[in-house]
Amino acid sequence: MQVSIIGGGGLVGSCAAFALQCGKIVRGIDLIDVNAELVGGQALDLLHGSCLTADQQIRSGDTSLVKQSDIIVITAGLRRKPDESRLDLINRNVQLFRGILADIKKVGTKPGAIVFVVSNPVDVLTYLAIKELGLPPAQVIGLGTVLDTSRLRSLMAEKLQVPPSQVSTLILGEHGDSMVPIWSAAQIAGLPLEKWPGYSTTLIQEVEKRTRGSGAEVIKKKGGAGFAVGLSITDVINSIALDQRRILPVSSLVNGLYGIRDVAISVPTVVGRAGVLSQIEIDLWPKEKTGLTNSARVLRETIEKVL
Ligand code: 2OP
Repeated sequence: MQVSIIGGGGLVGSCAAFALQCGKIVRGIDLIDVNAELVGGQALDLLHGSCLTADQQIRSGDTSLVKQSDIIVITAGLRRKPDESRLDLINRNVQLFRGILADIKKVGTKPGAIVFVVSNPVDVLTYLAIKELGLPPAQVIGLGTVLDTSRLRSLMAEKLQVPPSQVSTLILGEHGDSMVPIWSAAQIAGLPLEKWPGYSTTLIQEVEKRTRGSGAEVIKKKGGAGFAVGLSITDVINSIALDQRRILPVSSLVNGLYGIRDVAISVPTVVGRAGVLSQIEIDLWPKEKTGLTNSARVLRETIEKVL
């Protein structure tokens, strides 16, 4: 499996490359960036460790590399300021992103190649990629609320002092201010969260608030997310590379689920080698359903501004 990362010189792209290298699943990692010196340095640094991982081929180069890629990850774009919403980025990132899409179209992609959008606002840019690349919509996905879900699970685990991998819940909707935590599905080690020692509505509110603000908190403390977003990207890529068909809250084109139409948004999605295999409409609490349709409305409004 050959993966290229457009924006591979930056924090998100290079952390994704390192997570993929340590994950040992993909055969080759190509880093692409407008800053040739920086991306060459990232690739060299990764190459120096390649004998200690899985002998992956690590390269840096220009967009022409994508024609050999099975998965094309797009992380390039400006980062928001702590007090900015991800949707505020739209005016600065959409032109850059359209240029990247045009380059990918010009170079061409392998049959069955998956385009995986990470740049923000990820849901709107995923929708743009679906509309402008001319690929089957199933082959275009966005990271969506995979990172938010990881944050929620991990922060809840820290609060309750339980293993993070045994906290199960998810976030759906926009990767942004209107994201929707699905507490109705929350469990710890297969047991209902609300029965867990130490559970309280205050705890839920605290963890939810901190999760919503995590992106801005990390930007404020260290300039931007890297490690967790790199691991989140790798988790999705593994499901594609191994055809695991895991149910992940990636962003993809939704037409009908929960009454949502013509928007890219995170719903429970079966992810395999062909990309989006199916989407699952699980039963939600009424307030969760309302939150999800609100998220879709917010995204539609932004899409209409840029398309
Ligand atoms: C975040 O939440 C980069 O949007 C990403 O950190």
